[in-house]
Amino acid sequence: MSVAEAPRYASSWLDLREPADAAARATELVDELPTVPDQVILDIGCGTGSMARWLAPRLGGRQHWIMQDHDADLLDFAAASMIGTGAAITVETRQGDITALTAADLDGVSLVTASALLDLLDTDDAGRLAEACVESGTPALLTLSVAGRAELTPAEPLDGPLNSAFNDHLRHHVAGRTLLGADAADAVAAAFTERGATVKAVPSLWRLGSDHRELIAEWLRGWVTAASTRLGRDAAVEHEIDEYLRRRLAQAEAGELTVTVHHTDLLARPGDPR
Ligand SMILES: C[S@@+](CC[C@H](N)C(=O)[O-])C[C@H]1O[C@@H](n2cnc3c(N)ncnc32)[C@H](O)[C@@H]1O
Repeated sequence: MSVAEAPRYASSWLDLREPADAAARATELVDELPTVPDQVILDIGCGTGSMARWLAPRLGGRQHWIMQDHDADLLDFAAASMIGTGAAITVETRQGDITALTAADLDGVSLVTASALLDLLDTDDAGRLAEACVESGTPALLTLSVAGRAELTPAEPLDGPLNSAFNDHLRHHVAGRTLLGADAADAVAAAFTERGATVKAVPSLWRLGSDHRELIAEWLRGWVTAASTRLGRDAAVEHEIDEYLRRRLAQAEAGELTVTVHHTDLLARPGDPR
């Protein structure tokens, strides 16, 4: 994928979701990471650095973070936001395509991390990521992969069709490539396992309620808009979807809507870990 074809993410959206992401990630996987005195962590698809802000205080010790993304603007945010997070933390940014990662790129890296990234990969990308980690003996903590299920309370008949349509959208949204979408965690886990790694998968759920009105509203707009691209251009269907979104946004605004969005966190450890 060329940088020009790659999807762009608004820093405002990444900021809005950061607290929900932080609450959702599985801390038990962090406890299973190997202890390394001087860590070098490569955060692939780092965005504004949400994963590093969450993980750095939990790792402790001296850490050098390499923040990689294809989006130069997000990398600027990521670098600036890590200043002052700890005297023992240093940061560098790397602009580039994470799907081209090789074992040589992981020379000296003690941990690969990612958050909300794997659904954007295709099967070949997943294989290359697993290959690079396994060949270099680098563990990978890959968090918050969408699992294809969102539950809204109170429930409505259109929830299920929108959920399916959104999943369909996730699998196809870059020209010429079939993205893993909601199959990402399973596919990446399989890619690592086939290469002899041990993989542990743990659910990591967004549990959103009246304390997350703005996030719910923004998530709803994105979810419904993406799903509607898969539901045809029939005027009656469009009207029904518009009314659904209007109703759901009003419920969110009133603090009367709860949303659970399912994700999966993975910890992959190569057969011969460092
Ligand atoms: C959903 S955002 C998540 C960002 C961040 N990890 C977080 O949790 O807030 C996905 C990020 O991956 C980056 N990205 C997607 N595909 C990429 C690729 N092939 N190479 C480099 N970065 C990529 C995007 O620019 C974006 O910053």
